[in-house]
Amino acid sequence: MTKIAIFASGNGSNFEAVIRYFINSSIEFICVSDKKDAFVLKRAEKLNIKYFYVPFEQTYDFLLKNKFDLIVLAGYMRILPKKVLQLGKFINIHPSLLPEFKGKNAIERAFKSKVKNTGVTIHYVTEEVDSGEVIASKKIKLTPQMTLKELETKIHEIEHSLLPKTIEKLIRKYNILLIGSGAREHAFADKLLKSEYLNKLYLFGANDGFKDSGINLEAQNFEQLAQIARQNKIDFVLIGSETQLAQGIVDIFQKYAIPCIGSDKYWTQLESSKSFAKEFMKRNNIPCADYVIVQTEKDIKKIPFTYPYVIKADGLAAGKGVCIANNESEAKNIIKEYLNGKFKESSKKIVVEEFLAGEELSLISLWDGNTLKPFIPARDYKKLNPSINSPNTGGMGAVCPVETDKKLILDYTKILEKALRKEKAKFTGFIYSGLIITSEGIKVLEFNMRSGDPETQVLMLSLENDLVLLLKNTVEKNLKNTKLSFKKEKSICVVLASNGYPNTPETGNEITMPFSNDVNIYYAGVKKQKNKLYTAKGRVMSICNCGTDSINKVYDYVNKVEYKGKTFRSDIA
Ligand code: AMP
Ligand code: GLY
Repeated sequence: MTKIAIFASGNGSNFEAVIRYFINSSIEFICVSDKKDAFVLKRAEKLNIKYFYVPFEQTYDFLLKNKFDLIVLAGYMRILPKKVLQLGKFINIHPSLLPEFKGKNAIERAFKSKVKNTGVTIHYVTEEVDSGEVIASKKIKLTPQMTLKELETKIHEIEHSLLPKTIEKLIRKYNILLIGSGAREHAFADKLLKSEYLNKLYLFGANDGFKDSGINLEAQNFEQLAQIARQNKIDFVLIGSETQLAQGIVDIFQKYAIPCIGSDKYWTQLESSKSFAKEFMKRNNIPCADYVIVQTEKDIKKIPFTYPYVIKADGLAAGKGVCIANNESEAKNIIKEYLNGKFKESSKKIVVEEFLAGEELSLISLWDGNTLKPFIPARDYKKLNPSINSPNTGGMGAVCPVETDKKLILDYTKILEKALRKEKAKFTGFIYSGLIITSEGIKVLEFNMRSGDPETQVLMLSLENDLVLLLKNTVEKNLKNTKLSFKKEKSICVVLASNGYPNTPETGNEITMPFSNDVNIYYAGVKKQKNKLYTAKGRVMSICNCGTDSINKVYDYVNKVEYKGKTFRSDIA
């Protein structure tokens, strides 16, 4: 059960407002005052709330003995020392727009200074008076006609509504359903589990390597999954992979009014149809390579580009649908294979585009229907090995941050944000821009409508924000006021794959690996049998670390993992 202490020295009207707001909740409140005859204690008695007179000097001992999820200072007229503040999460309500008018008599001082606006601020408590991080604030216009009395009344009214609502937000915990099976989803799960705002984590489709991170749900189809999510009071859903998005999972959850981090079927076409993405970019002047559509072998003649050029399956191909043709015979072979169904329906239509040269970046952003917030740029290593003719894979490793001109990223983000706003993209979720910095500037190679794999593995280790809060702000369309922060150190990921990947991976080999505190291990294709771990897919696991010595730590560990056919790149980061 959640326990909250409210500290007050005097009247206690804020205390009473909070108690009345939470009257039928299961939260346990107590009232504390440093003044023996404070009126707040009488209010507590009347409201049937436990109350304590705790002289200032005894506060430390009191909080040592009594643990609270939150301690609210509501008219508590003392400054608490660091030693006390370390015993819990403290918030304070102050009747001005901080940082203006810190300290006592704030309303009166603001009034006398004839400021245009004043208000109420709720902030975390530090040793300095009224100085901690602001959690919520509300502004009041001070008109020339307003009397001090009227201003005081107005401020108290705002306090009485802002304080309980802010407390509610601070203590609310969320049930989240995470859908997907790979190392990306394992990394998401790991980061979600670090949040103090997580109530329960539910999983759908998790592989054996991270099944025990949450409560596993079973369902025959998305409709049934949505019903089960409803019964389990899931607050929102995070969909990791494009497969489910392209099948329209978000449209189904929308019918049940369950918010999703993921695009609806229509907007998933930015990933699931290269031609749809190209048209979107053309309409919105988003820079990208010139292209033509090829649907028959005869169309080859109409391709206007010089070699090398790039041939892409229109639909989804697990990151493997792009080939580079260096001459006519290669081009003909690739196009024939594609049209003959190399990627089934996905390659019945082909996008052919000019070859772009430059440095590639993965820019992963969150979109809330109005605001686009970019993460730090990351890089993935798509090729199986560094040689030019090496095949593309789902990704063999990743690193972040990647040094980039910040202005380029900001300008690009503005262009994409404007386009999404203009086209009224209402979904909330990740958008991944595969970018290339050419001599003509930034261009888009592709969009993905989810976070990257393996970029997620490195980004989640770098991200300092609480992921539950961040995703909650996204589904609540409140990204505008969210600031993202990331660790400065390098975060790296090396993917361990199976022999034969990406075409015909060998599976079923036993894995042995020591325990380690030095790296984060995110499982992708593994199976557990009688407590033994076996390879089960092309990509087996991601070995990751964020820190000053991340490269050495990761490769040291990579060398300690053993299974037959272990395949990885030695040049990540
Ligand atoms: P895509 O799935 O479209 O991102 O393509 C996968 C990879 O193919 C990219 O990360 C690039 O390395 C490469 N690629 C795609 N389009 C082009 C292009 N127009 N020019 C050069 N390389 C490309
Ligand atoms: N890392 C590339 C992708 O997620 O598609």
